[in-house]
Amino acid sequence: MRRQPRFAAAVLTLTIAALSPVPAVAQATEDATATIHADRPGPVMNRQVFGQFAEHLGHGIYGGIWVGEKSAIPNDHGYRRDVLDALRAIKVPVVRWPGGCFADDYHWRDGVGPRAKRPVKINTNWGGVDEDNAFGTNEYMGLAERLGAEAYISANVGSAPPSETEQWLEYMTSPTGSTLAKERAANGHPAPFPVRYIGLGNELWGCGGNMRADYAADLTNRYAQFAKSGSGKMLKIASGPSDADYAWTETLMRLSGKYIDGLSLHYYTRPRDKEWGDKGAALGFPEHEWATTMAHALQMDEFVTKHSAIMDKYDPGKKTWLVVDEWGTWYDPAPGSNPGFLVQQNSVRDAVVAGLNLNIFAHHADRVKMAAVAQMVNVLQAMLLTDGARMVKTPTYWVFDLYKPWMDATTLPVDLRSPWYHDQEVAVPAVSVSAVRDAAGQVHVALVNLDPHRAIATSLSLAGVQATAVTGRMVTGPAMDSHNSFDQPDAVRPVAFTGAQANGSTLTATLPPMSVVVLDLR
Ligand code: AHR
Repeated sequence: MRRQPRFAAAVLTLTIAALSPVPAVAQATEDATATIHADRPGPVMNRQVFGQFAEHLGHGIYGGIWVGEKSAIPNDHGYRRDVLDALRAIKVPVVRWPGGCFADDYHWRDGVGPRAKRPVKINTNWGGVDEDNAFGTNEYMGLAERLGAEAYISANVGSAPPSETEQWLEYMTSPTGSTLAKERAANGHPAPFPVRYIGLGNELWGCGGNMRADYAADLTNRYAQFAKSGSGKMLKIASGPSDADYAWTETLMRLSGKYIDGLSLHYYTRPRDKEWGDKGAALGFPEHEWATTMAHALQMDEFVTKHSAIMDKYDPGKKTWLVVDEWGTWYDPAPGSNPGFLVQQNSVRDAVVAGLNLNIFAHHADRVKMAAVAQMVNVLQAMLLTDGARMVKTPTYWVFDLYKPWMDATTLPVDLRSPWYHDQEVAVPAVSVSAVRDAAGQVHVALVNLDPHRAIATSLSLAGVQATAVTGRMVTGPAMDSHNSFDQPDAVRPVAFTGAQANGSTLTATLPPMSVVVLDLR
């Protein structure tokens, strides 16, 4: 991690108002209107866009996913059963591991073989705590297998030679025969593990080695040469830019474009984005921090648009994936928690941020082919929070649940006219919409109303599809920071949405304040 302050909120707001390509200002009315173009289908939204990131950070792995076979917490060979069940239910398509910053400090040999013999190291990135390497390669692959998820390994480029990546991949993917394949078999897995994605370092501009883009590109090309899979096609993802670092994208695409299959983008949404040491609280925040959070979340659209335009110059055929493999909210650590563990509560605000981001990714489905929310359990904008034997599903989890029909569905272009939500200097479009047609032909529409006060009547014209019936589900809450605690685990969860009507080529819905609504048309 090495991040610079971005812009003052006021400037940022103007940028959003000026550049957001989706909504225009609603004129005489405060309603939103939209046309959904089922008559001109867009690209498929890869299910990999719903990926998740699991780093050795705080209780992201230990306690959150892995408790060990001897734990009193119900487990399947060491993996928490409650967490496995919850993640299976939202069909996690891909898990990125082991970092993050941790990845460029990780040496795979520390995490294979009998657990009692694995070295104990210090997690120098996250809290300085002991890392006993109980969760290593085989354990990660066991997690991916149990979830039915693809493996996305982040290789160590910052502090290990390319031979380490090469040998790790040989250990994981080579068919039986080689010494490393025999070692894998001796460790309990004779068959090769499928590694579908390899990240060539993480944040090489920061915690991955503080590199200049030219140097990072040279290293990317070198590591890409030695990253080989023995178990089928593996895409190589270069460590890409953060936020608005367009120069990084330009350099990586120019110098490394022909050696890579994807370029990562990292962008975190913070209520206050001047200082990393003062991000704003996860709960009990003022309305202005709701507003700035929304403005900052919507900036993802600008970043994706501009990075994609640079990629288009070098890759007009759009073969290279833009992989937003770290996104989500980042607040001040929960009071009383270890600040190195990045623990934060997750509220209706996070649900709305998740809906906005997923809609943005749907609008850019031609280039954003994979993403990973940061992170899966107990860290940052988590899907799940655990405390000993207890677990809660967060509002963000429930948004991922609502958006399941978007996985591998065909996106449908949306023309939207939205009213604005204003707070002090912030002015952002209040409504966000995306739509898809699934493999069975059913159309689904996601609508987000980020205004915390006002219900918004929305009228949608359906071009190329007729609907006579509509059902829906919604995530919302009574307060901006409504959330699920261990004592009240179901305070925020999807409820039936009955405020929509379908009438042939018209669909109307009144969106409650701060809501994420998904409609299924018939
Ligand atoms: O997700 C937490 C950290 O944020 C990751 O380790 C790093 O890549 C980023 O700076």
